[in-house]
Amino acid sequence: QLIFVLNGPNLNMLGKREPGIYGASTLSDIEALCRAEAEKLGAGIEFRQSNHEGDLVSWIQEAGEKNAAVLINPAAYTHTSIALHDAIRAAAVTLVEVHLSNIHARESFRHHSYVSPLAKGVICGFGVDGYVMGLRALVKAAAPQ
Ligand code: DQA
Repeated sequence: QLIFVLNGPNLNMLGKREPGIYGASTLSDIEALCRAEAEKLGAGIEFRQSNHEGDLVSWIQEAGEKNAAVLINPAAYTHTSIALHDAIRAAAVTLVEVHLSNIHARESFRHHSYVSPLAKGVICGFGVDGYVMGLRALVKAAAPQ
């Protein structure tokens, strides 16, 4: 099983960026955590980050073409991107949405997600552990019932 782990804008700044909200881990730490978990689960991962909406759209399309599942932290595009919503809908990928912070406990502009209606599930508020939970959920979702 192949899982694309996609990260949206400003997540390259993790570690330095509002550590009180997002924690001290860097994106490289999260990548290492995901690689270790994927290995345990027997899954392959493609770990990527971009500050550009179009990159995320293209990567969703690529995941669809490769029959990969998607774990995505769309960051601020969660709350703004119809393009990302349409890409996920078109690619028909199995997707889990993850956020480090609990977006529902924050500003009201973070309460709405264009991604959530298309997700298998949403994990938020558990920091970097959410990525591990998301990988486990996707592997379980792909296993024969
Ligand atoms: C985030 C939450 C978003 O509202 C925010 O724009 C981010 C990070 C999170 O992981 O908590 O950039 O997705």
